[in-house]
Amino acid sequence: MPSINSLLSSLLIAFTFFTTLTFSATLLPNNEVEALEEIAKTLGKTDWNFSADPCGGEWGWATKNPVKGSENAVTCSCTNNTVCHVVSIVLKTQNLPGSLPPELVKLPYLQEIDFTRNYLNGSIPPEWGTMQLVNISLIGNQLTGSIPKELGNISTLANLTVEFNQLSGVLPQELGNLPSIERILLTSNNFTGELPQTFAGLTTLKDFRVGDNQFTGKIPNFIQNWTKLEKLVIQGSGFSGPIPSGIALLTKITDLRISDLNGTEATFPPLSDMRDLKTLILRSCNIVDPLPDYLGEMTKLKTLDLSFNKLTGEIPSSFVGLSNADYMYFTGNMLTGAVPDWMLKRGDNYDLSYNNFTSESSRGCQERSVNLFGSSSGGNNSGIVSCLRSFNCPKKFYSMHINCGGKEVIVDGNTTYEDDTDSGGPSKFYQSRTNWAFSSTGHFMDDDRPTDSFIGTNVSRLIMENSGLYTTARLSALSLTYYGFCLENGNYTVKLHFAEITFTDDKTYSSLGRRLFDVYVQDKLVLKDFNIEDEAGGVSKEILKYFTAVVTNNTLEIRFYWAGKGTTGIPVRGVYGPLISAISVDPDFIPPTENGSSSISVGVVVGIVAGVILLVFLLIGILWWRDCLRRKDTLEQELKGLDLQTGLFTLRQIKAATNNFDAANKIGEGGFGSVYKGVLSDGTIIAVKQLSSKSKQGNREFVNEIGMISALQHPHLVKLYGCCIEGNQLLLIYEYMENNSLARALFGLFFFTSAYVLYSIASAIKLHVYELV
Ligand SMILES: *[C@@H]1O[C@H](CO)[C@@H](O)[C@H](O)[C@H]1NC(C)=O
Ligand SMILES: *[C@@H]1O[C@H](CO)[C@@H](O)[C@H](O)[C@H]1NC(C)=O
Ligand SMILES: *[C@@H]1O[C@H](CO)[C@@H](O)[C@H](O)[C@H]1NC(C)=O
Ligand SMILES: *[C@@H]1O[C@H](CO)[C@@H](O)[C@H](O)[C@H]1NC(C)=O
Ligand SMILES: *[C@@H]1O[C@H](CO)[C@@H](O)[C@H](O)[C@H]1NC(C)=O
Ligand SMILES: *[C@@H]1O[C@H](CO)[C@@H](O)[C@H](O)[C@H]1NC(C)=O
Ligand SMILES: *[C@@H]1O[C@H](CO)[C@@H](O)[C@H](O)[C@H]1NC(C)=O
Ligand SMILES: *[C@@H]1O[C@H](CO)[C@@H](O)[C@H](O)[C@H]1NC(C)=O
Ligand SMILES: *[C@@H]1O[C@H](CO)[C@@H](O)[C@H](O)[C@H]1NC(C)=O
Ligand SMILES: *[C@@H]1O[C@H](CO)[C@@H](O)[C@H](O)[C@H]1NC(C)=O
Ligand SMILES: *[C@@H]1O[C@H](CO)[C@@H](O)[C@H](O)[C@H]1NC(C)=O
Ligand SMILES: *[C@@H]1O[C@H](CO)[C@@H](O)[C@H](O)[C@H]1NC(C)=O
Repeated sequence: MPSINSLLSSLLIAFTFFTTLTFSATLLPNNEVEALEEIAKTLGKTDWNFSADPCGGEWGWATKNPVKGSENAVTCSCTNNTVCHVVSIVLKTQNLPGSLPPELVKLPYLQEIDFTRNYLNGSIPPEWGTMQLVNISLIGNQLTGSIPKELGNISTLANLTVEFNQLSGVLPQELGNLPSIERILLTSNNFTGELPQTFAGLTTLKDFRVGDNQFTGKIPNFIQNWTKLEKLVIQGSGFSGPIPSGIALLTKITDLRISDLNGTEATFPPLSDMRDLKTLILRSCNIVDPLPDYLGEMTKLKTLDLSFNKLTGEIPSSFVGLSNADYMYFTGNMLTGAVPDWMLKRGDNYDLSYNNFTSESSRGCQERSVNLFGSSSGGNNSGIVSCLRSFNCPKKFYSMHINCGGKEVIVDGNTTYEDDTDSGGPSKFYQSRTNWAFSSTGHFMDDDRPTDSFIGTNVSRLIMENSGLYTTARLSALSLTYYGFCLENGNYTVKLHFAEITFTDDKTYSSLGRRLFDVYVQDKLVLKDFNIEDEAGGVSKEILKYFTAVVTNNTLEIRFYWAGKGTTGIPVRGVYGPLISAISVDPDFIPPTENGSSSISVGVVVGIVAGVILLVFLLIGILWWRDCLRRKDTLEQELKGLDLQTGLFTLRQIKAATNNFDAANKIGEGGFGSVYKGVLSDGTIIAVKQLSSKSKQGNREFVNEIGMISALQHPHLVKLYGCCIEGNQLLLIYEYMENNSLARALFGLFFFTSAYVLYSIASAIKLHVYELV
């Protein structure tokens, strides 16, 4: 074997020699060409064409037909048209499978390497310490090991970017000697320990990011030396608070992000001289203070996130100066007073949810893009629900099933996961038509997308069981709360359905993403640094998590929170945060039935079935009998006699809803007449049953039907919204359900066990019979 290898390599060298001679237009010295060959081998780079001039911009050596984010360039610097040297190697988004080449040292003029988003493993070679590198970018690989202390010798080094890898260990104190360093980006690695004291000397720093690591200790006060700093990101880094007061001296800062500090309660850090701030994030930093007035003078602010602290007092009047901000998050504080008018008027993604603001009772949970959910006071947190439109619960609920981010699906043939396809948003409250709502806070930072999507779609082609639940999922950039209300008090089992659908499972950089987030049930942390992919053992795999929730005030809260952990730039920038596929909540107790009994015997079942059969005959009998009757004009009087829980609609309303009974809206035709789909002016989708004048359905039955169905409130039955009687027209207005839902509803019914349900069955069959007549 060695002989073949050596033969091959001598052939290779001979070939190289030959080609270098042949293309003597190549002004690159031989040793640099050879070095490139070795580098290619170590990196796993196969498309460098050594028959062509590496400095000539030929295919393989330069970016041709660039795909977004992908770059492929070897750049040379030539003097006097006689000799060239490689100064830069940029290989981005190529899934290179090798490791970092120590052979770079053989390119003595090399200033820049950029291996962003590949699949390189191994560690950073200490040999690089002898080079004159200016830019080192290794973003988004699978590098391990620590940063070699030798890098501290690269006096030219300006940019050291190693984000989204698995580097570990303590930062070498030698890095504190770098005289030209501008940027140190260490986000999303596994670094430990404290920042070396020598870092006090990094006075040339402009950009320092250390989020998502395992650092310990406090944020050192010596950062005050970094007076040129423009950007500082310390999110989910492991450091504890408080934020050192020396930060006040960093007056050039435009982008300051500190979040999820472990530590004691702290005052608001002194930022009054940071007049150029565009982005200010102090999230979950345990700040107990009123909002400082001077923030209102930071008129360049575009994003202000002070969520999840313990801020008190009112929003200062000076804050009107922030009306150019695109996003403001005050979520989860203890702010009081009235919500300023200018905020409600401008209404641009200002999230005020979960505070203690007073609000007019007329106001809903959301006004324009201002999320006010849980914002109004009234003591004992009852404000959280007082903004809900249907605060007066129509009935008690004993469960809730949501297909988060997806359409309604039925699982196991008996559980309906409700539709949850509202697009969500950075400051959004959404209330379902049943007993749940969600409150969504936060936008995805630094992504290049013009608008964020808060619903993720499965990128994998793997087939999953219950795929209906996992095709799409709801995403959050900061905090997402699902809120159940009108629940009967008691213990419930909360089942959370997760599957990682964003990352791939191949040998590409897209598989290197890490998603970590926290989950709270009833304000209790139940999952910390939860990683779906790790827990499920891969992507596109279901993982279910069960919790017991004690409901004492008819409400249930499930909160998903991004604590600054995980990668934020794989496969593209702005991919991070919680992802939830579906939620089931089922009672740990047997829901009581309408008449108080909670279980029934076989005898009762038999009785019910017999009763149903009897009723069917009775109804058919009635139908026959009804044929003999004529419609009378006393209809309206009869209707008045009923204690209807439904509304009367005008013919004009129904004509508007169905586009004057447009044939295009017709969704069915029975013996009695036609069924139309329509949309009421408030957006409610309805089905209109038009009883033709030829119909044999008589007045009395019409009245009966309305009375009977309107009294019913059962999740499996089509709801009657009301009726319309004008002139010759008899119209029934129902809740609109998708195809076959009625049949399904009828089928599911036999599993229910109460006299109330018996009543439902009877009326449903009656309905059905009407369809057949
Ligand atoms: C390599 O470069 C040579 C010289 O430019 C060219 O003739 C040849 O077609 C190239 N090979 C490939 C695979 O592109
Ligand atoms: C380049 O040419 C200039 C004069 O034309 C000469 O002074 C210089 O030494 C040359 N540099 C090299 C590296 O050959
Ligand atoms: C370093 O990277 C920056 C940004 O990509 C670039 O503008 C600069 O020219 C690079 N410096 C060198 C010496 O290659
Ligand atoms: C890097 O990956 C290659 C190929 O998968 C493997 O053979 C090698 O052991 C890995 N090296 C390290 C240091 O993990
Ligand atoms: C370092 O990177 C930044 C940002 O890409 C760039 O603007 C700057 O020019 C780089 N520094 C040097 C010395 O190349
Ligand atoms: C990070 O380091 C800790 C020990 O310091 C280790 O237990 C953990 O597995 C590492 N995490 C990763 C993702 O490498
Ligand atoms: C930086 O900070 C340290 C400790 O806080 C201090 O002793 C030193 O004088 C400061 N200045 C420089 C230029 O290092
Ligand atoms: C936060 O601090 C507490 C006590 O100070 C400690 O027990 C806990 O481990 C810390 N958590 C982290 C993530 O450092
Ligand atoms: C909320 O405001 C009400 C009335 O203004 C007050 O009684 C209550 O203590 C406040 N709650 C909190 C948590 O600040
Ligand atoms: C209901 O009770 C839970 C704890 O059982 C609490 O976290 C929540 O804030 C309460 N909600 C309301 C609206 O009172
Ligand atoms: C729904 O069906 C599944 C399997 O078909 C069964 O295990 C489960 O008990 C059923 N649930 C109810 C509430 O009937
Ligand atoms: C409800 O759950 C709590 C906590 O798990 C438990 O202490 C309590 O006994 C349960 N109550 C009932 C009625 O099961």
